[in-house]
Amino acid sequence: MNIILLGPPGAGKGTQAKRLEEKYGLVQISTGDMLRAEVAAGTPIGLEAKAIMAAGGLVSDDILVRMLASRLSKSDAAKGFILDGFPRTVPQAEALDRMLADKGLKLHAVIELKVDDEALTDRIAGRFTCARCGMGYHDTFKPTLASGVCDACGSTEFVRRADDRRETVAARLDAYHAQTAPIIPHYAAAGILRPVDGMADIDEVARQIDAVMATL
Ligand code: AP5
Ligand code: MG
Ligand code: ZN
Repeated sequence: MNIILLGPPGAGKGTQAKRLEEKYGLVQISTGDMLRAEVAAGTPIGLEAKAIMAAGGLVSDDILVRMLASRLSKSDAAKGFILDGFPRTVPQAEALDRMLADKGLKLHAVIELKVDDEALTDRIAGRFTCARCGMGYHDTFKPTLASGVCDACGSTEFVRRADDRRETVAARLDAYHAQTAPIIPHYAAAGILRPVDGMADIDEVARQIDAVMATL
């Protein structure tokens, strides 16, 4: 199964992708995570992306398309993938269509997490991640079970993203509405757009996604 999880910043793409990985044996391909790894490693792509990401803008289509093409050609992608954060512009969506056609692969669904803008700032501002295993949490909506200890790996170190400041979230939302939302009609026309109520709690969103998966 090859699916796209589409939605604005903070919609829950990463949260649901992690669950889908485990439940359905798919691989999560998060272009945001890939870019953050490039920034951390100080690669040329990372150097170019760092300031753009911190300001809440989008990194160039050229870089992203090359990055995704190389990721899709790794062998684990063959078991099925969840795209999280890609495509984000019309040219990226068109490039993805070409890449998949070249590989003889099909896109089964584009699951759109619909969330009101007002809810997103609170979700993003409260987010933190385990520094060791990457498990995601939220101060209010998904705290660790034991205070200060990762549920998954027991680590006591956590990180917060550089672009998760309230000021930056507004720019990220603008980028979503101006540059990413225009790809939605493309997938509606292809008959694979599956909207889900992303305002519901995490388990309820997961149930709605499972209901979509059951139809594929
Ligand atoms: P990226 O890393 O993709 O960030 P994003 O799209 O802004 O989305 P987030 O990761 O912030 O949110 P999410 O939807 O994963 O939500 P999460 O599950 O964490 O991209 C970062 C940057 O990289 C971009 O701004 C851009 O600069 C660059 N970039 C990446 N891809 C690119 C591309 N293709 N082209 C160009 N540039 C690109 O949930 C958020 C929080 O809410 C968590 O704390 C979670 O616990 C909580 N939560 C989740 N679901 C719920 C729920 N249902 N109810 C309550 N709380 C919830
Ligand atoms: Mg994410
Ligand atoms: Zn952990």
